[in-house]
Amino acid sequence: MESEFIIRSYEGQSDKAQVEDLERRCEVGPTESIFLFTDSMGDPICRIRNSPMYKMLVAELDKELVGVIQGSIKVVTIHCHSPMDLAKVGYVLGLRVSPHHRRRGVAASLIQRLEEWFTSNDVDYAYMATEKDNQASVRLFVDKFGFAKFRTPAILVNPVNHHSFKISPNIEIARLKIEQAESLYRRFMGATEFFPNDIDKILRNKLSLGTWVAYFKGDSNGWGDFGSNGQVPNSWAMLSVWNSGEVYKLRVGKAPFSCLLFTKSWRLIDKIFPCLKLPTLPDFFNPFGFYFMYGVYHEGPFSGKLARGLCQFVHNMVAKSKDESCKIIVTEVGGRDELKHHIPHWRSLSCPEDFWCIKALKKEGTKTFHELTKTPSTRALFVDPREV
Ligand SMILES: CC(C)(COP(=O)(O)OP(=O)(O)OC[C@H]1O[C@@H](n2cnc3c(N)ncnc32)[C@H](O)[C@@H]1OP(=O)(O)O)[C@@H](O)C(=O)NCCC(=O)NCCS
Repeated sequence: MESEFIIRSYEGQSDKAQVEDLERRCEVGPTESIFLFTDSMGDPICRIRNSPMYKMLVAELDKELVGVIQGSIKVVTIHCHSPMDLAKVGYVLGLRVSPHHRRRGVAASLIQRLEEWFTSNDVDYAYMATEKDNQASVRLFVDKFGFAKFRTPAILVNPVNHHSFKISPNIEIARLKIEQAESLYRRFMGATEFFPNDIDKILRNKLSLGTWVAYFKGDSNGWGDFGSNGQVPNSWAMLSVWNSGEVYKLRVGKAPFSCLLFTKSWRLIDKIFPCLKLPTLPDFFNPFGFYFMYGVYHEGPFSGKLARGLCQFVHNMVAKSKDESCKIIVTEVGGRDELKHHIPHWRSLSCPEDFWCIKALKKEGTKTFHELTKTPSTRALFVDPREV
């Protein structure tokens, strides 16, 4: 069997329909849990298209596509990587093998070829994210390919509903120009783990809807032009918003009956008793979009409250916007980052531990790799909106 399938680059026109079909047939994660389908809306490489370098490979057997994988390359901050704290990293994503062709080495061949592409492009480390309960994926990457658990950020999800949040009147919120946002990010988050060196490209991308800062009224501390004079308020917070729904849509693939019943009765109660102001549970069974909050940063006493105010501001902005397809607001923060306590989210919709694994592709990187995987991170983690 192994000699029968071939691995080759994805060819847009001829492979598109088959790749989309493969995606529809693949459940990701353990079968007993709810899972999400991604609808790439006719562009299977939509999740990597915004990265500086990307590649999609397919496995073909008798003219049928039986597997697919995607990868992207960029430069990020990685501590202790010598001679500087910058390293080239390759992200592995979108691995799918047709249910009828599993356990025949298709995924292993795809990963191997993607690693070769990384190596030929001088990549220092490969990394990937999966659910920790996805046994097949964990065993494949960790046991077979030598990846090691590295970080466990939390994915926080908040539904968009028509009841607006009341933001504290003490909080001032202002939108930054792209140049201001870039300068603040480089200055305050440049040392954050996985901070992308091409942050300017992210901020300038049309999917990036803007960057906002929050501070307490009367505490602008000469911040006239937001940090350009070197000064920032005593307490402040910042975040940017990415319109992931423009890239792909999500849909709940399978939900236990109890979950469907809960959704239906919840909506009914909200309809009959609007005075209860129940947060509305969106319709997750039809394709929906989401906004991703990235580069969330806060500093100073009570700045958690400012970060919360910013998240509420984003929620109200989405709720009032004409984009009715956006049903959730998502963010991802380092597992130990206390920031998660300030970000409004529903526990039932969120994932407390996304499982990130890393592998050194060069001998010189082995020392850093051991440091990264052995020491739990106390630092914040920058989650790139292009990779969500
Ligand atoms: C995970 C997935 C890509 C594996 O594809 P595959 O072609 O069957 O994998 P391979 O045949 O190359 O398996 C290589 C190794 O991975 C591990 N593995 C693969 N599937 C496994 C499973 N169901 N249970 C346990 N280990 C598994 C084994 O170590 C296996 O080696 P072995 O067969 O010698 O024991 C496939 O099951 C899939 O598409 N799942 C749904 C999508 C998904 O979860 N993708 C991963 C997201 S990161």
